[in-house]
Parts: sequence; C-alpha cells; structure tokens
Amino acid sequence: MQLGILGTGPVAQLLAGVWQQAGHTIVLGSRDPQAKHLDYVVQSLHDTVTGADVVVNALAGSASLATITSIDPSAFGTKTVIDVANATTQNFELIYPNSSLAEHIQAALPNAHVVKTLNTAAMTVLTQPTTIGASSVFLSGDDAAAKAQVAGLLRDIGWTDDEIIDLGGITTARGPEHYLVMFAQLAGALKSPNFNIRVVR
Ligand SMILES: NC(=O)c1ccc[n+]([C@@H]2O[C@H](COP(=O)([O-])OP(=O)(O)OC[C@H]3O[C@@H](n4cnc5c(N)ncnc54)[C@H](OP(=O)(O)O)[C@@H]3O)[C@@H](O)[C@H]2O)c1
Repeated sequence: MQLGILGTGPVAQLLAGVWQQAGHTIVLGSRDPQAKHLDYVVQSLHDTVTGADVVVNALAGSASLATITSIDPSAFGTKTVIDVANATTQNFELIYPNSSLAEHIQAALPNAHVVKTLNTAAMTVLTQPTTIGASSVFLSGDDAAAKAQVAGLLRDIGWTDDEIIDLGGITTARGPEHYLVMFAQLAGALKSPNFNIRVVR
C-alpha cells in the first residue's frame, strides 16, 4: 500500500526505510518538498495525504496539530491516520496534560480513523523490535478495522501479535503519550535510549 508519512525527520526516514523494505510505497510530506533531497519521494503535505492509503504523522509533536489542521480535511477522507508523535516541550513537559495529541487530531479529522502507536520507545528500537527481545507496543483508536490495519503494518516490521496490546479507544492514547515523561527519566537513568517496556502477566 502507499504510506504517506508527514515529516522528513529521522523518525519519518526510519519508518520509511522499514516499511519500504516490507514492500510498501513511501511518500514523505514536507512544508518545503523542493528543499529535501532524500532517498524517498517528497511531496507537499496535501499531496502526500491525498495519494496515501494510510497517513502517518511523524511531525514534531508541538507542530503536529497546527500542521495537520492546515491541510484540507477532505484530503484525509476516511483514511487511517497513524500518529507516532509525542507532544512535549523541549523540557519534556506535556502539551496536552489532560488529553492527548491523538484525541485532538481525531477531533480535527472526525471522518478519519486515528490510531496512536509507536511512540513509547526510541524509533530505532520500535522499527527493529527483534533487536532487544520480546517487548510491548500499543494501539489506541476508535475504529477496529483501522487498528487491525495498523497491527498488520506493525507485523510487517517484526512485531508479533503477542507483543501488540490494544488499549482501547482513542482516549487511551493519553497513557502512551504521558509515558514519555517516564521514558525520558528511564533514558537518563540508563544513560541510553535503547530499551523498551514489556508487559508481563
Ligand atoms: N525520536 C524517537 O525515537 C521517537 C520515537 C517515537 C516517536 N517520536 C516522535 O516522532 C515525531 C518525529 O520525530 P523527529 O525526531 O523525526 O522530529 P523532527 O525532526 O523534530 O520533526 C519532524 C518533521 O516535522 C516537521 N516540522 C518540524 N517543525 C515544524 C514546525 N514548526 N511546523 C511544521 N512542521 C514542522 C519537519 O518537516 P519538514 O521540514 O519537512 O516540513 C520535520 O522534518 C516526533 O513527534 C517525536 O516525538 C520520536
């Protein structure tokens, strides 16, 4: 399928690499596509959304909502929108302390199906899950079919069904988003971002 990834930063490029390897067609979306000379096709944000089967928000978290709402909402239609962004200030303070970025994106795009995932570890780990042994990745979203589609994209990059935990509706994105505070503390304590959490029961 064609994945339209909003953003051209390190996270967008990591996701592009592993999903291209899995056989998907990748387009990256940028404010200034002409200025980007990357290994992937780069288009305007609007054209990236329009051409995509599934859209991925890999924009800076603090800029995500304003950037997404600057795109004509009809371009998103009823598409699945995967949100991997973490909305914090540079000091790791939450921008939506009593809500989540994913809920705000869903409210702005009521016909689309937002799914929060891939935001609870370093993207180098999340895009190569087999490198650190069994761990956990989460899904939040209101639409079961969209979450099943995203679970398929997670399996494409090495996650197993046992490792994928469906938390529930889009309001459950608060947990994974607010976990970033703990992630930053763990990364400081461990002096490395190369870890993940594993839910054991
Ligand atoms: N670092 C990780 O391991 C990790 C793990 C999980 C989730 N995340 C999340 O993944 C997202 C992307 O991370 P990243 O490190 O790749 O981010 P980034 O390089 O800071 O930004 C990603 C892209 O967002 C666009 N952007 C930046 N500032 C903007 C602004 N003020 N207005 C509009 N667009 C802006 C830029 O695209 P253009 O210049 O092309 O327009 C940029 O390439 C973040 O939300 C981050 O929290 C990161």
